[in-house]
Amino acid sequence: MTLTPHPLAPDWLSPRENTDDLESALFPITTSRSPAGELVIEGVPVSDLAATYGTPLYVFSETDFRTRARRFREAFNQAFTPDTAVDVFYAGKAFLSTRVAQWATEEGLNIDTASGGELAIALAAGVDPARIGLHGNNKSDVEIARAVELGLGRIIADSVEEIGRISAIASGMSRTASVMLRLTPGVHASTHEYIATAHEDQKFGLSLTPVPGTHTESPNPFLGSPAWTAVEQALEAPGVDLIGLHCHIGSQIFEPTGFELAASKLIGFLARVQASHGVVLPELDLGGGHGIAYTEADHPRAPEEIAQALAAAVRDACSEHGIAIPRLSIEPGRSIAGPAGITLYSAGTTKDVVVEDGISRRYIAVDGGMGDNPRPVLYDADYSAVVASRRITGEHVLSRIVGKHCESGDIVVRNVYLPPAVIRGDILAVPATGAYCHSLSSNYNYLTRPAVVAVQDGETQVLIRRETEDMMLARDTGYTP
Ligand code: LLP
Repeated sequence: MTLTPHPLAPDWLSPRENTDDLESALFPITTSRSPAGELVIEGVPVSDLAATYGTPLYVFSETDFRTRARRFREAFNQAFTPDTAVDVFYAGKAFLSTRVAQWATEEGLNIDTASGGELAIALAAGVDPARIGLHGNNKSDVEIARAVELGLGRIIADSVEEIGRISAIASGMSRTASVMLRLTPGVHASTHEYIATAHEDQKFGLSLTPVPGTHTESPNPFLGSPAWTAVEQALEAPGVDLIGLHCHIGSQIFEPTGFELAASKLIGFLARVQASHGVVLPELDLGGGHGIAYTEADHPRAPEEIAQALAAAVRDACSEHGIAIPRLSIEPGRSIAGPAGITLYSAGTTKDVVVEDGISRRYIAVDGGMGDNPRPVLYDADYSAVVASRRITGEHVLSRIVGKHCESGDIVVRNVYLPPAVIRGDILAVPATGAYCHSLSSNYNYLTRPAVVAVQDGETQVLIRRETEDMMLARDTGYTP
């Protein structure tokens, strides 16, 4: 039977009578349905999770997370064999807790941190500082001093000024810091504007383009660029050991072309540094940004495919420039944590709102919203959802899942076909919320932030406790318990 699309539905959304195909494409690999039609994650029925921990609830499949982490490491190492090794740094900004840092390192990954706070979590997890990188476009002296004192594997410097500060702080401690330089190769990844970070007109990194008026007739096309100045500075800085170059071209990128282009630009720069200064910078980091599926419209590439495309591009660029292939690293965050996590909500008030004559949209309000997932509000991000507590058949109704915050833009899932009879208390599951949901969460309207639990092999473990009213009030100096 052909189902008729709802007139308000976007073109990419297919009308449906059941959600089995969504579940296999968007949910953790360990997801199934019980014979009674309930969603089960790694052997744990969602109603057990909701009853024990309440909703909203972030749920991670530990097996899914570990499988993706391992797959990235193996895919990239295989693609670059026998030329070089690839270190995979899990980008903790996607989602970090002490246990998650341990999962990543147990799977052979290192940890990429973007602040003193993320660094503190990684250290509390017992991660070897040599396996941690520290990013940030405005690192404080305290953050730098801590990184230097710990002997972090790499500090990724983001400005010429910062190189001087790192050197001074390290020299003051009679140490040398391992430093990479974050460069902006000017590659524009086709993604949402706010999360594309390789534009020249943005706050991150050091441009490869000469500052107007500084370029001479020199055959070196980079002369006069912030990146070139930074290399010269770093090579002379007594407290700095310049170990390589870094770039991150954006996030939620599907096509490998942008990564290939960025890699070849950086390799051209690396070769120029080698030719001019006689220095071989041993490492090249190509950042993160690998896209995932949030809805049926997203078709991400397999890590193996991206790895092979990049390996070919790196080999070609190195042979063209006549330099040895450097040691590679990447920093995936979303592509490891994102699909491993889902959010469970309880359905509450439902309204059919007439939008035009004869056309209405169903609004289903849940017990969370923009506080636990601000991505729809921030980036117009689309999500999907299924009814998780039972299987309801019948032609699904175009629905909009909204939160309980005091904002009309508080949308969790803008468009999704859900079964006709969703009632108060039904559990809804939104997939692909493992990355940038908890880490971007707020307690706007003083909603308490949800707990994060992990399931593995039928066992559940709380990773992060649910925020309580006491925890919120503890910060209020006018409150006496
Ligand atoms: N490395 C660096 C230097 C980064 O800036 C980022 C992300 C990553 C790695 C990890 O990128 P991923 O593999 O997760 O795409 N809040 C936005 C995403 C911001 C990404 C910022 N940097 C969102 O929710 O879409």
